[in-house]
Amino acid sequence: MTPILEVRDIHTFIGQFHILEGVSATVHTGGITVLLGRNGAGKTTTLRSIMGLTPPTRGSILLDGTPIHGKQAHTIAQMGVGYVPEHRAIFRSLTVLENLRLAERKKGDFAHQADFIFELFPDLKRLIELPGGNLSGGQQQMLAVARALVPENRLLLIDEPSEGLAPVIIEQLIAAIQRLSGQVSVLLVEQNFRVASKLGQNYVIIDSGHSALDGRMADLVKDQALIQRYLGVA
Ligand SMILES: Nc1ncnc2c1ncn2[C@@H]1O[C@H](COP(=O)(O)OP(=O)(O)OP(=O)(O)O)[C@@H](O)[C@H]1O
Ligand SMILES: [Mg+2]
Repeated sequence: MTPILEVRDIHTFIGQFHILEGVSATVHTGGITVLLGRNGAGKTTTLRSIMGLTPPTRGSILLDGTPIHGKQAHTIAQMGVGYVPEHRAIFRSLTVLENLRLAERKKGDFAHQADFIFELFPDLKRLIELPGGNLSGGQQQMLAVARALVPENRLLLIDEPSEGLAPVIIEQLIAAIQRLSGQVSVLLVEQNFRVASKLGQNYVIIDSGHSALDGRMADLVKDQALIQRYLGVA
């Protein structure tokens, strides 16, 4: 079966800096692949490269077998790739409902997805008239993920959703991401190894701008030496 996403040996520059020097990753349809790596390894740049925000200069990116490298970010979004950046990019002065409505790619998207979104994030239904800025950090993160579910996406790129959240909120987020992966495949950047190991079936470790190791999460969790070497956590 063709994977939903195949990243093959991409190289990306930011200005004159050669940031990605050979990153490869695969996301299978209906699966969650986790991108792991230390601070500054190149995880965010990998997501931004897939999205066309920092386009790679070498290598290829295939969405359901179709090349998307070299396409503009809005075209890649239209092809069904949703991006949830770091730090909960929501509109703080707009209400929850307005945030969700603005995420529509075509008219009717929100109405079509509303039941699913509120089933995943019941809090958002209760808070629908509140400005985004009044939400707690966890609620803002739920809203950021929910916005990516409004248009019909086939792949979500999610960057560090658990960062700065309380453990009980992280559990809710894990449950929601597990459930949404039944509808959309996910490439997830996650620094919290416990969260990453719960969510991911497969992993890719990025080290200093290149993918150093990949495989099945079930195998990685058993290998404390590898986890220590690449991630510095035990
Ligand atoms: N605008 C920029 N100009 C120069 N260097 C940059 C820029 N953005 C990122 N970098 C560098 O690129 C490398 C990869 O950054 P990136 O944000 O992709 O890492 P990351 O793995 O997401 O890190 P973190 O865990 O801190 O989020 C880092 O060394 C960073 O300093
Ligand atoms: Mg990052």
